[in-house]
Amino acid sequence: MAYPDTGWQELVSAAQSARLRARAAFSGFQVGAALLDGQGGIHTGCNIENASYGLTVCAERVALWKAISEGAGGFSRLVVVADAATLTPPCGACRQLIWEFCGDIPILLADLKGRCALERSGQLLPRAFDAGSLR
Ligand code: THU
Repeated sequence: MAYPDTGWQELVSAAQSARLRARAAFSGFQVGAALLDGQGGIHTGCNIENASYGLTVCAERVALWKAISEGAGGFSRLVVVADAATLTPPCGACRQLIWEFCGDIPILLADLKGRCALERSGQLLPRAFDAGSLR
């Protein structure tokens, strides 16, 4: 499918560029992410693996932590780019954090062949546990 509107192209390009910086020596699976903030700023991330395996951080979380640590907020769109047989959705841990820090936003899954699919964080994590659950 074509990107849902022209606003996504810049984010897809940013995620593709970030993906090239992935440190994926153990899985060989490179992922890039790009997050749009409320000011129109773009924050990117790539997956970063290390020899302990378990300390790996996904591209989505790198983008999110970079953005939040720089004072960004009001996130409205996220793109995830990989190059696999099927489009790559965020893992469960990332779904939780996207929901908590971005709310119900559109997430475009894209690859290097121009394939893409539009999801929403709320669809990817139904009946989420979040701050509202602690009341
Ligand atoms: N990975 C991501 O960065 N984002 C995803 O959405 C799925 C998985 C990374 C983690 C690990 O470095 C590699 O892909 C294989 O799981």
